Amino acid sequence: MSTATETAVSDGSGGAPALLRVEDLTKHFPIRRGVLRRQHGAIHAVDGVSFSLDAGETLSIVGESGCGKSTTGRMIVRLLEPTSGRILYQGEDLSAARGGRLRELRGEIQIMFQDPYSSLSPRMTVHDIVAEPLRVHSRYRDGGPARVRELLDLVGLSAGYENRYAHEFSGGQRQRVGLARALALDPKLLVLDEPVSALDVSIRAQVVNQMRRLQQTLGLAYVFISHDLSIVRHISHRIAVMYLGAIIEVGTRDQIFKAPRHPYTRALLSAIPIPDPELRGERERITLTGDVPGPGDPPSGCRFRTRCWKARDICATDPPVLAGQAGDGHASACHFPENDGTVLP
Ligand SMILES: Nc1ncnc2c1ncn2[C@@H]1O[C@H](COP(=O)(O)OP(=O)(O)OP(=O)(O)O)[C@@H](O)[C@H]1O
Ligand code: SF4
Ligand SMILES: [Mg+2]
Repeated sequence: MSTATETAVSDGSGGAPALLRVEDLTKHFPIRRGVLRRQHGAIHAVDGVSFSLDAGETLSIVGESGCGKSTTGRMIVRLLEPTSGRILYQGEDLSAARGGRLRELRGEIQIMFQDPYSSLSPRMTVHDIVAEPLRVHSRYRDGGPARVRELLDLVGLSAGYENRYAHEFSGGQRQRVGLARALALDPKLLVLDEPVSALDVSIRAQVVNQMRRLQQTLGLAYVFISHDLSIVRHISHRIAVMYLGAIIEVGTRDQIFKAPRHPYTRALLSAIPIPDPELRGERERITLTGDVPGPGDPPSGCRFRTRCWKARDICATDPPVLAGQAGDGHASACHFPENDGTVLP
């Protein structure tokens, strides 16, 4: 991705390095076939993604299933090695960290999944679940039990929960326990991968509000991965929209929701239900036709062109660069972006 792109997606913080800066991040998974498992091409799960995030900020990553959101999140927490590109945490290249520094960084950058319990033993109590990261990082002996109670209190669970088992709880309570565990090592950055998608709609707002309160109290930064655009609108400072492994638009919440420039973003937003019947009539309805192309063979030129109603010849030959117009951090990757000043309801 070009320098112009990186400039466009960074809103910087007046000279201090961003808390997180992702530069041209790429992950290709080899496709292997036959008895000899020879490589036949690669799945372009993430293809040149760049963005930055400041302390205390929420950047949401949205897009259809398979567009590379989780792969991006897993690379940030080093659960996956990038094929290429850099991840800078407070200006430090994560791939260069070793030994004690790597352990420290693993504490400062945490990830939480939709179902954090799938990998945990059902025999663990809530206390054990929250205490485990403290034990692994040799921080339990010095005030561990009090720290576990403090963490449960932070996420709105009383000490009475400590000796119970996670499977006894509702989904919302389980996600609170997961949050307490993710906070155990005092992280500065949390990658939240669909953290509330499995919860009832009524519970989602409660858990997300808890996350917002914690962000304000602890100064946390979130990379928030979600399909749910209503929740994204509620929690985000900035939003990156991904399509087939690439960011196709990035901007503040209002820039994306009120004045989207990329046709794909407009299509995604047009699918959100509007409760007010009067406003409903004013909203354009865009129905995307055609399937998402396979990530093993993305289209030439613009990745979105096979489904785009505005596509012209140049879209098949020249990949559009993610770039802005006004230097306000709002950038889209489209040769013919919407810039008519239309403000959506
Ligand atoms: N370990 C892997 N090996 C091969 N392909 C993979 C692997 N992990 C992910 N992929 C592929 O990479 C692409 C991006 O996957 P990813 O899980 O990042 O998407 P996503 O945006 O998180 O989707 P969802 O919304 O369904 O969670 C998909 O085509 C997926 O099938
Ligand atoms: S570059 Fe062309 S195909 Fe791609 S989104 Fe813009 S108009 Fe559509
Ligand atoms: Mg995912």
